[in-house]
Amino acid sequence: MARIFITGSADGLGFLAAKALIQSGHEVVIHARNEARATHITAQLPQSAGVLVADLSNPDAIKALAMQANTLGQFDAVIHNAGIYKSNANYTGNLPELFVVNSMAPYLLTALMHPPKRLIYLSSDMHLQGNADMGHLIDKINNNNITYSDTKLHDLILSMAISRLWKQVYVNTVNPGWVPTKMGGQGAPDNLEKGYETQVWLAVSNNREACVSGQYFYHQKKAHYLQPANEIAIQEKFLTICKEITGIPFPYTNG
Ligand SMILES: NC(=O)c1ccc[n+]([C@@H]2O[C@H](COP(=O)([O-])OP(=O)(O)OC[C@H]3O[C@@H](n4cnc5c(N)ncnc54)[C@H](OP(=O)(O)O)[C@@H]3O)[C@@H](O)[C@H]2O)c1
Repeated sequence: MARIFITGSADGLGFLAAKALIQSGHEVVIHARNEARATHITAQLPQSAGVLVADLSNPDAIKALAMQANTLGQFDAVIHNAGIYKSNANYTGNLPELFVVNSMAPYLLTALMHPPKRLIYLSSDMHLQGNADMGHLIDKINNNNITYSDTKLHDLILSMAISRLWKQVYVNTVNPGWVPTKMGGQGAPDNLEKGYETQVWLAVSNNREACVSGQYFYHQKKAHYLQPANEIAIQEKFLTICKEITGIPFPYTNG
């Protein structure tokens, strides 16, 4: 039995991955944005090992979530799944919401939580349209013109950086396909089950093909991704920018 933490597990792929892992006998700690969503999800997944609450559009709440998660000890796997496609109209934070939820939350949680044995980051094939020029990232953040594609490329860059730096951890990225969730919309053409199977497999399987690091998967197969994500200079620049914005350095020697 493995212990797994999944962000954004109140709905969509995070919920379905949590449900599948619980049904297979694993211990899953779930996560919701607020108490109301936590109550809702606990009713849906009564056999979960607990629910943590944090709004990932609030950097202080992300840091507090990492501390809460650490009180539960080390996880075997963490799935960084929570994400948004566009900003909410009522968002009032100083930094672009897309960047905070999709890019900064995975960075902060990874930097502050006890390293698990496996890390999985949810990206998208839309990362292919992301801007890999880290020289302009601060300007994009300041001018609030970060795109969803940029943030999904950040997830891939982060994942590739950590796989290089933390040799003891299996670190991989997943493109779940365009699937019919709240984010994907009802008409999404890809297979919903296949949209969460890869994360579940990477989290718990001892199959040789799942015990790897630094890979980008689509439907359990290695897939084409934007090569600049592999460049050390780009990875280091991204980590430096995240450190400057959050005040939290990346713990290079942790993994
Ligand atoms: N669906 C697709 O076609 C598709 C394609 C490529 C990549 N992806 C990626 O797959 C991941 C999961 O997507 P999905 O389709 O399952 O999306 P979804 O159905 O919209 O679910 C997203 C989850 O993240 C949570 N979340 C969003 N903002 C949050 C915040 N500020 N604080 C806490 N939790 C928050 C949501 O909470 P609430 O339920 O409370 O809103 C929800 O549980 C995302 O990273 C997405 O980028 C999805």
